[in-house]
Amino acid sequence: MLRVYLHDEQCGTLERDGTRYGFSFTYAPGWRPGQGRCRLSLSMPPEGSESWAYDRCRAFFRGLLPEGRRRALLAGRADPNDDYALLEKAGEECAGAVTVTAGDLATLGDPEALPVSEAELMEALRRNMPLEKQAGRGTRRFSLAGVQPKETLYFDKEDEPQVAPLRKAAGSLLSTHIIKPTLSAEYPGLVWNELFCLRLAEKFKLRVPPSWVRDVDGVACLIIERFDRTFDDGLPRQIHQEDLCQALGALEKYEYDDNGEKVGPGFAEIPRVLARMRVPALEQPKIRSWAVFNLLVGNADAHGKNLSVIHHRNGGAELAPFYDLVCTARYPEVTTDLAMAIGRERTPDALQRTDFEQWATDLGTKSRVALRSIKEICVQMVEAAEVVRAEMPKAGGPVATGIILEIRRRVQLVSDLFGFSVDARPEPVARAPGWRLPS
Ligand SMILES: Nc1ncnc2c1ncn2[C@@H]1O[C@H](COP(=O)(O)OP(=O)(O)O)[C@@H](O)[C@H]1O
Ligand SMILES: [Mg+2]
Repeated sequence: MLRVYLHDEQCGTLERDGTRYGFSFTYAPGWRPGQGRCRLSLSMPPEGSESWAYDRCRAFFRGLLPEGRRRALLAGRADPNDDYALLEKAGEECAGAVTVTAGDLATLGDPEALPVSEAELMEALRRNMPLEKQAGRGTRRFSLAGVQPKETLYFDKEDEPQVAPLRKAAGSLLSTHIIKPTLSAEYPGLVWNELFCLRLAEKFKLRVPPSWVRDVDGVACLIIERFDRTFDDGLPRQIHQEDLCQALGALEKYEYDDNGEKVGPGFAEIPRVLARMRVPALEQPKIRSWAVFNLLVGNADAHGKNLSVIHHRNGGAELAPFYDLVCTARYPEVTTDLAMAIGRERTPDALQRTDFEQWATDLGTKSRVALRSIKEICVQMVEAAEVVRAEMPKAGGPVATGIILEIRRRVQLVSDLFGFSVDARPEPVARAPGWRLPS
């Protein structure tokens, strides 16, 4: 049996159901949201049932775990498809306010921040394995979704994460930041790319977590403040979040699979699911801006796990800040097909006005209003991108330049489609005097 805690209180248990991978989730007797308790997941309303079988609880719990290669490495000798075993290994600190553990939360020990050397941290990131798997650390075991190597860190409220000593949370202490390195030759400049996109998003009033690039053992790393943590009485406390796939009980994050079958969340689901989660309608236009921003910045990876909702303890909810904003179009081996179709179209270059009209309908918006959002971002995008490039640390300059080329192309595409008077074509490259075509 595994105990499931929400904030500091046990809200239920996970138990294997006798099948190879299966398990079920049962709420603790009498546990209900309200009076300072938020809900665990839209996908498992406690009013609906006390107990949720594998087919209904799997998406939420699987959604807490790493994906792809990180999952296999975490599994080690265990079966990487065995979510229950992986939660037992790594569930001591999950996204949001969830803890999954075979033990008792109360026995985690005093909160402690353990120094970690740059080399040690980088070794864990290089091996793509949680640091705590390395012998003798005793740090709190964490689980975060996603495929990119990442670690968690603890910084004091007053610390400056760019320079403060690197520390890991241990005992009952929670982490406050996520760190992602650029390691693979596959995604050169990924950290600068993400920093650039986050900074650019800010220019459009899209809420993003504070983030910095810091050199760790010679490797540029992105440090991102966790929006699911907040300091109270000198210690970080959890704020609950769940992503759209978890909320919808969806096991797939992309809207369509390789055969073109619809499998994951798309724009049409978003207004309904946000309303059911009691996210105020006022928040919905942010989804529109997020979508247009992603299209223009060349982010094809804006899927249901890269969009989250925060559940407050008073029963309220809001959209979480946006994260994982990357110009994926800079990496030729990544598909340019959009994770969520606009209208019926997934290929950015093939988008038609009718696709945007359908998209507006899907989002419950009038075409005219949607068009205004598109235009607003489109006409400011290149200039804003140039400002961000100028503000970036020097080392990120070449990456920013590359992304801006993609942005210009996309802004031109969308402007031509709608007849906006925007000339986003790259300026002709200045030639040295006497330059001639090679014969
Ligand atoms: N700033 C943040 N605060 C809290 N949780 C976050 C933050 N950024 C990401 N997450 C959580 O961590 C998961 C993985 O992060 P993400 O940046 O999407 O990694 P990847 O690039 O591997 O997909 C997300 O799905 C989300 O649940
Ligand atoms: Mg992600």
